[in-house]
Amino acid sequence: MFMPTSTKPQNASASSVTDMLRKDHKNVKGLFEEFEQAEDATTKQRIVETALTELEVHSKLEEELIYPAIRAEIDDDDLMDEALEKHHVVHGLLVELKKMKPGDERYDAKFTVLAENVRLHIKEEESELFSMADGCEIDWEALCSRVVKRKEQLIAKTGATSKTSQDKASKRKKEDCRSLHKMGKPRNEPALGFPYSLVVGVRRGCGPEGDVETPQGNIHEMD
Ligand SMILES: [Fe+2]
Repeated sequence: MFMPTSTKPQNASASSVTDMLRKDHKNVKGLFEEFEQAEDATTKQRIVETALTELEVHSKLEEELIYPAIRAEIDDDDLMDEALEKHHVVHGLLVELKKMKPGDERYDAKFTVLAENVRLHIKEEESELFSMADGCEIDWEALCSRVVKRKEQLIAKTGATSKTSQDKASKRKKEDCRSLHKMGKPRNEPALGFPYSLVVGVRRGCGPEGDVETPQGNIHEMD
């Protein structure tokens, strides 16, 4: 029997976006663990700087693009407001930490409290918000494309090119490329209606470099 086929890609879903956020969560939790093991001030400072940059980019993406898309679809303004308030608390700690250096009174304590807040927020977000997002009628493909482009802009804006970030990016690139090949998604193959590799590899360099638009203006100041 003839089955009509749609030309529109059907396989973009909530997980196209939430998997990317989960990966960010995993990275930042890894940095918190590294900080707990770190013994010298230089290492601590590098870890803190990297974590702050990752958190700034991640929270901007959620606040500007992802939360509004989900809020428009779910009938739970309280949940969304609470998520924003938790970001606000983390943001306050983040601003204070940016002005500090290792050895300052309560530097370690402040980063530890930041880590505790972020870990709790991640747990709630992954268990509650992401499962609600799964049921949302959102144009996930369009949202994912916007998130990928905005992430690239924010990374360029924050200059996330410290030695630590570069080292980590290089390591993750190798890991992500290996797992992409294992999953049978060859390099450059569009698997989700947009280059899959950009979703997992936007910061890792797995994707075809020409697919990410160069950021041109309209970048909000990171505050
Ligand atoms: Fe998040």
